[in-house]
Amino acid sequence: VSFAAGMAGAQTYPERPINLVVPFAAGGPSDAIGRLVGQSMSGTLGQQLIVESVGGAGGTLGAARVAHADPDGYTLLIAHVSLAAGASLYPNLTYDTATAFAPVGMINQGPMVLLARKDFDAKDAGDLIQKMRDGGEDISLGHAGVGSNSHLCAVLLQEAMGAKFTLAAYQGTGPAMNDLMAGTIDVMCDQSTTSIPQIQGGTVKGYAVTSAERMEALKDLPTMQETGLDGFDFTIWHGLYAPAGTPSEIVNALNAALQVALDDQKIRDRFAAVGTSTLPADQRSPEAHDAKLQLEIKTWQQLLGTNAQ
Ligand code: MLT
Repeated sequence: VSFAAGMAGAQTYPERPINLVVPFAAGGPSDAIGRLVGQSMSGTLGQQLIVESVGGAGGTLGAARVAHADPDGYTLLIAHVSLAAGASLYPNLTYDTATAFAPVGMINQGPMVLLARKDFDAKDAGDLIQKMRDGGEDISLGHAGVGSNSHLCAVLLQEAMGAKFTLAAYQGTGPAMNDLMAGTIDVMCDQSTTSIPQIQGGTVKGYAVTSAERMEALKDLPTMQETGLDGFDFTIWHGLYAPAGTPSEIVNALNAALQVALDDQKIRDRFAAVGTSTLPADQRSPEAHDAKLQLEIKTWQQLLGTNAQ
């Protein structure tokens, strides 16, 4: 693309539909958040954001797809903590996580929930944790691939409980949730966004939240800390990304559309109902989210070690 053509593109952007890559299977939290925010952004931008599911390898296949796409604003990524953690867990990534993306902005942050199949015999969180400790490898835990939030939560739980479970990898927590509902796996740690509807529907049981504070939308559930897992505190986030090199006019146009979505009371109410929230406006700029991503890459490197898989 010549400089002149690039400028013209930025001025008339967007002229055609935009691909929004969701790096996990349909039916999971990334898909749900992506569709909700994407629908609002489509209205603001006057072009459809079309969700493309590219699951696998803990979100890194979808991230690679966007890292190598043309930086023209027509291929975007919704990603979360796994984008940062993947830098330490996958030795053969085809992109450098710290430099391959132009962050558009942070979308939301929220806790995860420890869930069990509905016929698991545990009367409360303390009882479940005791049974998980005692059961060890007899306990099957579903997750969305190495480095996904649900996997990182499992790693933190194993460490905090001093136990090792039998981990089952899926392409997203959508399909893992289906197996939890069917009772073919015992437990899972999933984001509140998809956990709360299932807990309320009685298809799975919720036991404890991963954040340091209780969650307004599930007030009855204790925190992990309350149940004796000292210091346990895991809050996840989602952000929106374009490939590095995307003109700043385009990144800013996308950020402006994202802000409209995040300030929409209907979306804020939907977020609140499923236990997640937007951030203050000053933390949602492209610059602020880039700083957050860089910090998270370092944090997970310290926690996991380089190529700790
Ligand atoms: C999903 O959409 O399946 C989740 O975000 C995966 C995860 O990180 O646990």
